[in-house]
Amino acid sequence: MISLNSNILVTGGAGFIGSNFVLQWLTEQRTPVTVLDKLTYAGNMENLASVQKDTRYGFVCGDIVDGAMVRRLLDKQSPAAVVHLAAESHVDRSILGPAEFIRTNIVGTFQLLEAVRGYWMELPTEQRSAFRFLHVSTDEVYGSLKPTAPAFTEETPYAPNSPYSASKAASDHLVRAYYHTYGLPVLTTNCSNNYGPRQFPEKLIPLVMRNALKGLPLPVYGDGKNVRDWLYVEDHCDGIRTVLERGVPGQTYNIGGRHEVSNIEVVRQICTIMDELKPTGKPYASLISFVKDRLGHDRRYAMDISKIERELGWLPRETFASGLRKTIHWYLDNPEWVEHVTNGSYQEWINMQYIPTSPVGAVSQ
Ligand code: NAD
Ligand code: TYD
Repeated sequence: MISLNSNILVTGGAGFIGSNFVLQWLTEQRTPVTVLDKLTYAGNMENLASVQKDTRYGFVCGDIVDGAMVRRLLDKQSPAAVVHLAAESHVDRSILGPAEFIRTNIVGTFQLLEAVRGYWMELPTEQRSAFRFLHVSTDEVYGSLKPTAPAFTEETPYAPNSPYSASKAASDHLVRAYYHTYGLPVLTTNCSNNYGPRQFPEKLIPLVMRNALKGLPLPVYGDGKNVRDWLYVEDHCDGIRTVLERGVPGQTYNIGGRHEVSNIEVVRQICTIMDELKPTGKPYASLISFVKDRLGHDRRYAMDISKIERELGWLPRETFASGLRKTIHWYLDNPEWVEHVTNGSYQEWINMQYIPTSPVGAVSQ
């Protein structure tokens, strides 16, 4: 159990999941949070604007690859735990440019682990045994499932297929090694696809919503039948807190929504809710456009979450229908957030990723 009197350090806390985690933590827990974030294109101070004045919140702009800086920060803040979310997180970007994924996800996690190990070894005995390093990872490390294959368990062998998932798998292995070799009290969570407020509109759900509002094509890769297991981001954050408080060091925990759905179905459901909340006189589904498939596109992910349910009593609270509706409401209520994160380099990304691809088929409704 982590101490309620000392703070935690959250890497990547200005990103999508990190900011939702920090906001939830400050609402649910008593302890202070320091965020360490490099503020890449995916990091956004606006995500944390509502807690700027909270005296329990602190922000440091920095790179996890800079181990000496991380060590100084740890010595200064004396956190009882580190929750590690900083990463390059978008599969398509990893296909176009893997180098940054190797740098942050592998080298960065290594440097962070080294800094944490040095800090942890010098803690007084009681604090050393209570300390936790929680590494947030993904279901994508397990590879791709056949349509009727059982869902991934914590025992499923790693078989990553994209530079993103390979870099996350490498970081998971490093975290595991620091437990087995040095006894660092680590926890790893592997989670399925998240959605919810503050997700950068390069990922499927916010990208489709943004395009729909602008009357732009809604790009669906390949035949649209790739399946993902979707989890509302606040449920994921709640799962991370559960594992942090009650997880057994050295263990890994799968987190997921128990909700498998194909991409085309996700896009259709967004269109249906948008037709109701923001009607234009023309169904949004008429904007659906099948485009060239992602290279090496994993067909199906599904998570068996029975371990975290059985051992820690965690289950998702939100259904996909209720979570999606909440998410769409948030994007409709926060158009300025979308405007701010999509000016600058965003358009360059969209041009590189989508403009050269032409639709490859019409949509059957
Ligand atoms: P994100 O891309 O929205 O945010 C990543 C954050 O990390 C950003 O704030 C960015 O500025 C920061 N960052 C990047 N490189 C950094 C560096 N070198 N040093 C310090 N900060 C750096 O990502 P997300 O979707 O919030 O994902 C967070 C974590 O959860 C990642 O580790 C990701 O692999 C994992 N995860 C994500 C999902 C998902 O569906 N989004 C699912 C499972 C696991
Ligand atoms: P994404 O949100 O990028 O998450 P991940 O690749 O980590 O699963 O993509 C979710 C699914 O949606 C994935 O199968 C790829 C697909 N997709 C599209 O069909 N069109 C798009 O424009 C995007 C970004 C993703």
